[in-house]
Amino acid sequence: MYLFRNIAYNFNRFIMGKVALITGIGGQDGSYLAEFLLMKGYKVRGIVRRSSWPNTKRIDHLDIYDERYGKNSKSPFYLLYADLSDSTSIRNVLEEVMPDEVYNLGAQSHVGISFQCPESTLNYNTLGPLRILEAIKDMGIKCKYYQASSSEMFGRSLPPQNEETIMIPQSPYGVSKLAAFHLTRLYREAYELFACNGILFNHESPRRGLNFVTKKITRSIADILVGNREKIILGNLDAKRDWGFAKEYVEAMWHIMQHEVPDDFVIATKETHTVREFLEEAFNLFGLNWKDFVEISDKFKRPAEVPALLGDASKSLKILNWEPRTRFKELVRLMIIEDLKEGLNDNGLVLLSENRSDEYYIDIGRKIAARLIEKKKEESNFQSGTSYHKV
Ligand code: NAP
Ligand code: GDD
Repeated sequence: MYLFRNIAYNFNRFIMGKVALITGIGGQDGSYLAEFLLMKGYKVRGIVRRSSWPNTKRIDHLDIYDERYGKNSKSPFYLLYADLSDSTSIRNVLEEVMPDEVYNLGAQSHVGISFQCPESTLNYNTLGPLRILEAIKDMGIKCKYYQASSSEMFGRSLPPQNEETIMIPQSPYGVSKLAAFHLTRLYREAYELFACNGILFNHESPRRGLNFVTKKITRSIADILVGNREKIILGNLDAKRDWGFAKEYVEAMWHIMQHEVPDDFVIATKETHTVREFLEEAFNLFGLNWKDFVEISDKFKRPAEVPALLGDASKSLKILNWEPRTRFKELVRLMIIEDLKEGLNDNGLVLLSENRSDEYYIDIGRKIAARLIEKKKEESNFQSGTSYHKV
């Protein structure tokens, strides 16, 4: 039966173009990848899981579901319910979609939370990929498979890290991703599946989840500037990360899948910064000193930490001709501008529809920051004055 379906599908694909299936399509990377593949002429299908509150905010603008076709092979884009912990749902989706390329981006992707939820982290992040790989193998689907592997797998290995570096993960998340990495390699070698790993170093964007450190910082600064918050509480500021721009990293995923043979590739910027440097860069944009706004709490420290990540992506540059364009300073700036725009708009201070330049928003931020500094000075004069009189 599958053989017949494959023949029918191959014919259809020849006429209709490629079909990509993305798990985790509602996440940061899934949303950028969906946009990128649609732009390349793919038909995109995405898996979302049931949620009690909308989890499709990042992809709602792709609402190009076409009533003329319904959810059939001609629709450019549609979503299906499935869950990485549910083999039946995965098999049903694969059978319906018959993809050419599967991008497995779905995961419990928060390293800190993986210490609190280790079992579900391994269930989604390790057994999830295993369920997909097993289904592809059993059903004989001739598709390519991309596994979202992570630099977190390197753990405490010293930087720079590349495809040859030993992996000593430091979190349940890192362990879950390392097991999935090896499953992907094993299914490639044992069953000759076109299965690849993208070993991506940290990548951020305005769409980053709110509880990752970069977004937490940029969103909090915007909140401070519009008067909705006074400080940021963080954990370890010494950790070093190699931060790139998510929108460019999803292009690398596609390049990995277009390479003639399946392989594993590191994707990184080869530039590393501490969390403290991220804070400095973001606060400095507005002439503020981060030390006036940041508190440290053990609550945000982890039982084990990855001290330093710095990726060596020379293999990707050489073989895929892929290299990052957006560097650290630009990344910090573009993230903070989006948060500031949103904050100003939400508080009725600026209308986004007026379409101003980025510099305009930075300028408003600087003016508010200058008033904040004045206020802080007045408060500290007042406080020292009070204590003087007391003495
Ligand atoms: P993200 O924003 O957290 O998105 C993860 C997506 O997975 C969400 O859409 C989430 O759905 C979905 N998901 C979680 N559990 C699921 C389940 N059981 N069944 C189906 N879907 C599920 O992560 P991201 O930053 O886009 O990262 C994408 C992938 O790359 C992840 O696998 C991550 O581990 C990996 N990665 C990320 C980075 C990075 O720096 N961003 C670096 C290396 C590797 P809900 O919205 O319903 O929660
Ligand atoms: N989240 C968070 N919140 N991290 C903090 C905080 C805080 O309040 N304070 C300090 N940190 C430190 C963390 O301890 C870590 O060393 C660093 O900031 C970055 O943390 P995250 O932004 O949560 O990212 P991550 O490096 O742990 O994991 C991300 O990158 C991996 C690739 O290396 C995630 O996107 C993973 O899914 C991804 O695989």
